[in-house]
Amino acid sequence: MKELIKSLVEAFGPSGSEDRVRDLIAAEVGKVAREVRTDALGNLIATVGSKGAGGRRVMLAAHMDEIGIVVSHIDAKGFVRFGGVGGVFRLALIGSRVRFADGRIGVIGSEQKRVEGDLPRLDQLFIDVGAKDRDSAPVKVGDVACFDRPFVDLGGRLVAKAMDDRIGCAVLVQVLKELGETPHEVHFVFTVQEEVGLRGAQTSAYGIDAELAIAVDVTTTGDTPEARTMAVSLGSGPAVKVKDRGMLSHPGVRRWLVETAEREGIPYQLEVLEAGTTDAAVMQTTRAGVPAGVLSIPTRYVHTPSEMVDYEDVLGAVRLLVAALRGPAEIG
Ligand code: CO
Ligand code: ZN
Repeated sequence: MKELIKSLVEAFGPSGSEDRVRDLIAAEVGKVAREVRTDALGNLIATVGSKGAGGRRVMLAAHMDEIGIVVSHIDAKGFVRFGGVGGVFRLALIGSRVRFADGRIGVIGSEQKRVEGDLPRLDQLFIDVGAKDRDSAPVKVGDVACFDRPFVDLGGRLVAKAMDDRIGCAVLVQVLKELGETPHEVHFVFTVQEEVGLRGAQTSAYGIDAELAIAVDVTTTGDTPEARTMAVSLGSGPAVKVKDRGMLSHPGVRRWLVETAEREGIPYQLEVLEAGTTDAAVMQTTRAGVPAGVLSIPTRYVHTPSEMVDYEDVLGAVRLLVAALRGPAEIG
């Protein structure tokens, strides 16, 4: 699975520019799924199975987009000013390299005179693309870029930009490949524009009209020095979400995931996340409401160029979802 993860995390795909990620995933799922289609907003939907006894119409979601930056203007000397696409941290930007759609690299610098304290505002940062002046700048207003960082395998722990949420995409691709017989009609949805407001999940959930929904996304951990206290750590298994800022998981969906993990002997953790949310928040409130839950991949340094996951947690998430979807969904 590491090759799949590497190709997904290294792909270019800031929110609204997910086409390359979509092409990669479409090539992976095309041979396995009964139907693969792209909807009006750009979500990729791969469907397997049909509803049998005890079966439901299930939507699984992982978002293809990653945080990035967008060019807002270019000054006379050719320095590129930018805004965030999704939640970019100023702290994670200085000295970072960004990559534009055409492969062009820029480095992020900071104003020196105007910065008070240690942390410049976003509008006090700029991208140096090697231009001498505005006219020779190889980028234009509206161009987007993502972090430029290679995938690194530390042996058990994997580091890359965009683990949020290509690791979720990789998990769904793997589940689709391994699933085989299922009593459910399962729609694997690779969503767009999660980082700017859960947009793709909102429309695709409406279109699919699911009876049960699960998002696979990253969650933060409490296991680094002086971390915000949180009962989730790397390597202790995928996390079954109880709540985050955007939703309370459906208790039946939560129980179904927990019982599956216990039956299969898969380590798992329970997650209460105080900041952030996932596609499941809007899947849950679609139409007349959908029982929804989240399986999270514990991740350190979320929204930096070096997001870290534990490979065993990833494999555990795949096993848990495959085992759950092979049987009836008893969600009460
Ligand atoms: Co995110
Ligand atoms: Zn995410």
